[in-house]
Amino acid sequence: TTATVVGNYRVTGADTDSDIHHIVLDFGELPFPVLEGQSIGILPPGLDAQGRPHHARQYSLASPRDGERAGYNNLSLTVKRVTEDHAGAAAHGVCSNYLCDLVKNDKVQVIGPFGHTFLMPNHPRANLIMICTGTGSAPMRAMTERCRRRIDSGDNGKLMLFFGARTERELPYFGPLMKLPPDFIDINLALSREAGQPKRYVQDLIRDRAVKVRELLADRNTCIYVCGLKGMESGVLDALRDVTVQSGQDWSILHDALRREGRLHFETY
Ligand code: A2P
Repeated sequence: TTATVVGNYRVTGADTDSDIHHIVLDFGELPFPVLEGQSIGILPPGLDAQGRPHHARQYSLASPRDGERAGYNNLSLTVKRVTEDHAGAAAHGVCSNYLCDLVKNDKVQVIGPFGHTFLMPNHPRANLIMICTGTGSAPMRAMTERCRRRIDSGDNGKLMLFFGARTERELPYFGPLMKLPPDFIDINLALSREAGQPKRYVQDLIRDRAVKVRELLADRNTCIYVCGLKGMESGVLDALRDVTVQSGQDWSILHDALRREGRLHFETY
């Protein structure tokens, strides 16, 4: 279908290399039902080098099921402008640049929604351990906002977030995130290039917070979500293994149980 851009603003410091945008798409009268953890496909206009229409690119939703603006048929995405490849060589991301350059009232071709492997638990008082880097924060924002909107319902469990970025200014949504009450969400920021501070990755903070992580892991109402850089996948698993083993537990048994019970979710790229 076609969506209309109703908002596009940068959520990282203007003086940084991380140009990450929060983009709001509106479907007008058309209901577009989604769940937290799902993604949509965007069809960038134009043709590829072979003269064929571009294929769709998938982006995770950053908004909860009832819309970026509650009660409206709209949703939001978190998009990083790609200007280099994984090796650091110059590269122009076709869809990310298209999206980051959109202005209000532009029309966008959307397909989806997609995804059933990263959905948030829907039973009351489920705990969430959310581990992300950069734009991997999109589904975490969706889940957190879902919980924030029902804060008075008594349905929320414990929320614990591990969020990695180069610096505070390159961490998307830093301002709004820091305004969330500490008794609602336990926020742990892993900054890797902050001047005058040691380099920290999310897996380092998981080890630092071993006591609380273990307590949550011991609760069968806890689900773990990991989204962001491919490289952190093994680092996070190693950290979870270490905090488990420290207390004399067998990680392979717990790991199997987490997977079997659908409580461990990865989405890395
Ligand atoms: P680094 O400073 O070493 O690149 P990016 O800004 O490239 O999207 O990365 C987001 C954050 O994830 C950065 O702080 C980056 O650190 C960090 N990071 C890079 N590799 C890994 C990894 N293997 N595990 C965890 N975090 C990582």
